Amino acid sequence: MKHADLLILGGTVITPNGPEQIDIASRDGRIVALGALQGEWSADTSLYARGLHVLPGVIDSQVHFREPGLTHKEDLEAGTRGAVLGGVTAVFDMPNTHPLTLWEADLQAKLDAAQHRAWCDYAFYIGGSAVNAEQLQNLENLPGCAGVKVFMGSSFGDLLADEDAVLRKILQHGRRRMAIHAEDETRLRERKAIVEASGNLLQHHEWRDVESALKATRRIVALAEESGRRLHILHVSTAEEMQLLARYKHRISVEVTPHHLTLIAPDCYARLGSLAQMNPPVREKRHQDALWQAIRDGVVDVIGSDHAPHTREEKAQPYPQSPSGMTGVQTLLPIMLDHVNAGRLSLQRLVDLTSAGPARVFGIQGKGRIALGYDADLTLVDLAARRTISNDWIASRSGWTPYDGKAITGWPIHTVVRGQIVVRDEQLTGTAGGQALRFLETPEGIPAQPEPLPGR
Ligand code: DOR
Repeated sequence: MKHADLLILGGTVITPNGPEQIDIASRDGRIVALGALQGEWSADTSLYARGLHVLPGVIDSQVHFREPGLTHKEDLEAGTRGAVLGGVTAVFDMPNTHPLTLWEADLQAKLDAAQHRAWCDYAFYIGGSAVNAEQLQNLENLPGCAGVKVFMGSSFGDLLADEDAVLRKILQHGRRRMAIHAEDETRLRERKAIVEASGNLLQHHEWRDVESALKATRRIVALAEESGRRLHILHVSTAEEMQLLARYKHRISVEVTPHHLTLIAPDCYARLGSLAQMNPPVREKRHQDALWQAIRDGVVDVIGSDHAPHTREEKAQPYPQSPSGMTGVQTLLPIMLDHVNAGRLSLQRLVDLTSAGPARVFGIQGKGRIALGYDADLTLVDLAARRTISNDWIASRSGWTPYDGKAITGWPIHTVVRGQIVVRDEQLTGTAGGQALRFLETPEGIPAQPEPLPGR
């Protein structure tokens, strides 16, 4: 009899080959056997998964956990607790904290803060700006670094790189895939008067209009072609950008968020007020339809939550002083499972967008699929479970979700991080044992930059 730390028995496992009725054995945090294991393997702990689907752990490559400096909104403990309760096993945290994450010491402070407090695995982005541009090739390869994040348009916090000369310098210093918030700062400034005059939240997506997003995306795509750098365009929100990005898949990966796939303007503002205020904004139905089409067409690589909490009091300030951002890490998977049940995408495609996609795009070691030798990060879901999302369930320090009261079909039941059960029967259990993610690309091992395809 062989011995494992954990056996997952009798579930429908979403493997790279499709759904299979197999058992999983994990030892020392890794998957050591797959197949019919009962009778051949014993284990310290067994999890019976009959009736459940076993997915590779969900990786959310865009969260704002606000630590250090803004921990009244969120912190690493509560943020990662929400993550695992929602079936997320790894997160990439954003650099617009106080202080900004610009230097090695800022990154190290975050890694230290996450030790023994993070419930899931984690990595931290370094912010790309004029002040650190020339050091980015060293910074992006530090252990625990997810890569470089650039804000081309200001959203929340002081991190901004909007001039071509600065962007060029950032692109030239480093080789990993760089994450971009693409809204054009000059156009945003020019148009802010629209909402300052009216104070009308219904004009949020008129201020930060389609052209603001498209212009920035066009600029950064051209600069990427020039420099040969690979990019990841975060939270793409318009039909026009999707059309553009479909021509650059040799270099550019694409993220969409659950809120852009689920909420529609202007109805969301009437229902939720500034809780629906987000950058880039939630837009009209024609854009949402285009995002779904881009998922079907394979243009979208990743679903990330852009979990960006602010307190209810902050949100209650009159628009446009009310800050943009909403929670999302805990609701990412329930919302998307509900979309699976509504027939909008398959479970296999969802797994591609939430596990295999981020692992592939960012080169995460040992994650993103259920396969021998990979980390035993597993999200066990009941596709038939009906639940109602409520503010009470939300672990975030901000304590609210735009989906309060929304009925969902499909729910995460157990969450396993490197063989440790951290959520069992929907309840937190065990200890916060999250570790820093490791990435494939080292300075020695970076693949050659792809050449532009002919005719582009
Ligand atoms: O609405 C937003 N808020 N969008 C972002 O990209 C950043 C964020 C924040 O940090 O609050």
